[in-house]
Amino acid sequence: MSDAAGNEVLSAPPAEAVAPKKKSGGAFNRETVLEVQHYTDRLFRFRTTRDPAFRFVNGQFAMIGIEVEGKPLLRAYSMASANYEDDLEFFSIKVPDGPLTSRLQHLKVGDTVLVGRKPTGTLVQSNLLPGKRLYMMSTGTGIAPFSSIIKDPEVYDLYDKLILVHGCRQVSELQYGLDIVAAAKDNEFFGDIVQEKLIHYPTVTREPYVHQGRVTDLIESGKFFDDIGQPPLNPAEDRVMLCGSPGLLKDLVRMLEERGFREGSSGDPASYVIEKAFVET
Ligand code: A2P
Repeated sequence: MSDAAGNEVLSAPPAEAVAPKKKSGGAFNRETVLEVQHYTDRLFRFRTTRDPAFRFVNGQFAMIGIEVEGKPLLRAYSMASANYEDDLEFFSIKVPDGPLTSRLQHLKVGDTVLVGRKPTGTLVQSNLLPGKRLYMMSTGTGIAPFSSIIKDPEVYDLYDKLILVHGCRQVSELQYGLDIVAAAKDNEFFGDIVQEKLIHYPTVTREPYVHQGRVTDLIESGKFFDDIGQPPLNPAEDRVMLCGSPGLLKDLVRMLEERGFREGSSGDPASYVIEKAFVET
């Protein structure tokens, strides 16, 4: 069986076609790497083919990995591509000693990547009550699920403004975010609405830059709201999605709860949702 791009997939193989060593066939699709781009010595993105039967909601994640000595080695990765795109994109850290990313960083076009068939995650609109503004706050590779969301034209119908915050140590680490925002603004179908509604706020902590400092400090001081021309966080109007380092999540959750925000979930939508930026190894 092959997918739209002609790659072999194991979604419904005839029994005799199942090679014994492909033990992962049940839970994973085997996708082919189409493109790899390195941003820094710590960050890269890659695109793969996509089994047309692999469906997800923008903002969700899946288990991604490779086969090592015949066994799947997997970590949770947010889809950075939107759910209507023909292929899949992932944005990854590279950890020199990380069991997965030390290998994954050497991916080349034509290599095989395992993609778990059961996407899931909390960064979805159905976990939030209706609101005026959607804040997407991230650090590092935590921007990945928001790459998917800012490409979703339906999300722009739900809010007056979307604010994408991306905190990194160095300016070079912001490039992925700058690229995805530029591409969304250029999109031939919905670029106009992105230009009207999306505010991108990249900030850097360890080098000079136009915006400097931790997201948390910029919120506390009020500088963040002055810079973006929006009122301070208000649970009656604002919805917040968080994805980043554990420290950021802990501090931001405390700040949100102090301001009267409540965590939403499926079946109990509320004013904020949270996902840790998973891949640290
Ligand atoms: P800092 O340079 O002050 O540690 P990392 O690469 O370690 O995941 O960090 C990514 C970005 O997140 C860095 O700019 C870092 O700032 C920032 N950061 C780390 N912890 C927090 C926190 N508790 N609140 C806000 N920003 C944080």
